[in-house]
Amino acid sequence: MEEIERLIEGELLRQNNGIELIASENYASGNIRKVTGSILTNKYAEGYPGRRYYGGCEFVDEIERIAIREACELFGCKYANVQPHSGSQANAAAYRALMPNGGKVLSLVLNDGGHLTHGSPVSFSSNFYTFVHYPLDKNGRLDYEVIREIALKEKPDVILSGYSAYPYIIDFKKIREICDEVNCKMMVDMAHIAGLIAAKKHISPIPYADIVTSTTHKTLRGPRGGLILTNSDELIKKINSAVFPFYQGGPLEHVIAAKAICFKEARKPEFVNYVTSLMENTKECSETLKNLGALATNTENHLFLLNTLDSFGITGLEAQKKLEGIGVTTNKNMIPGDKLSPKETSGLRIGFAAVTTRGCNKSDAKRIATLIYDYLKGNISEESAKKIVKDITSKWTPIEKL
Ligand SMILES: Cc1ncc(COP(=O)(O)O)c(C=O)c1O
Repeated sequence: MEEIERLIEGELLRQNNGIELIASENYASGNIRKVTGSILTNKYAEGYPGRRYYGGCEFVDEIERIAIREACELFGCKYANVQPHSGSQANAAAYRALMPNGGKVLSLVLNDGGHLTHGSPVSFSSNFYTFVHYPLDKNGRLDYEVIREIALKEKPDVILSGYSAYPYIIDFKKIREICDEVNCKMMVDMAHIAGLIAAKKHISPIPYADIVTSTTHKTLRGPRGGLILTNSDELIKKINSAVFPFYQGGPLEHVIAAKAICFKEARKPEFVNYVTSLMENTKECSETLKNLGALATNTENHLFLLNTLDSFGITGLEAQKKLEGIGVTTNKNMIPGDKLSPKETSGLRIGFAAVTTRGCNKSDAKRIATLIYDYLKGNISEESAKKIVKDITSKWTPIEKL
């Protein structure tokens, strides 16, 4: 216990003293952390509310019903499955509900901003299904006409949209029109933009998609976990049996309780303010970097990509390591048309979901952009960079007080 406690203390210091710019991370509220660490972890509840394989489920039944109801109200849909342990498991269950083994999915490849579960050879997805991919245009944007042409040629069972590293708005209506034209199902993985959708700052996929999957721990700011939504009476039955008993056993009721709190928190006006500020901060940082002379993408959501190779003459991996040395956490990422391997990459993915939760404002975002620029350019020493990080983070809310 002592050993683990010491390591948790170290991680707390790291989180408090650092500038967290990994676009998929966030800081859950004290209530969410409390419930995730509650005695609910002791309970087995295989099955669904009212239909469990174990006794003593009266309280967890009610908790799971609340989580389902809150998810449906937050996103304006008919059905939710709140049991997936992660976004990857949510995607696995969604694929199974949408098509037979060997079915064909048209998606964006990992290197262009898709997720591992969107057909990567190292993921289960490409083992169970056939994947074909649509490219981005030369500006790194979706080209709906190209998606349409490929869909007409490939006749997929499912068109998948929603990504891990795409900085622009996705036109779900256009994708639905393509799905209708080629007569296939539409799946949206909104893991990254779920918070923006909840706050109505991004068009919702719910009116268009057959199935929407998500994680609850990125911009949505909940506990680590997955979520599946649908409006279809037929698909929810398939989704439920794909989650349990096909892919998972007992649900994590402590996490489901925390998901219920997350969905409630996301319906508050404060959450809309948070998302507004998150998007403003991201834009401020990308624009400041561009004004200073770096090559960064524009942003219409919570993240952007920075081309470190052409801006500073270093790979994404080198930039990530350098920034980590001063307490700024980012992740290396392929940039559109990248010539380097995914292990090295030519750039970074930068997002403001986590720091905005701690109180980062637009002027901090500008300072962070200048810090990244000056440090990667070699204009300032490691010592001065560390001082700036300390100065910025010392004004923010400590993680344990959130
Ligand atoms: C778009 C997208 N889908 C799914 C996932 C998978 O989530 P998890 O790590 O919870 O399996 C991620 C995670 O980064 C993601 O970016």
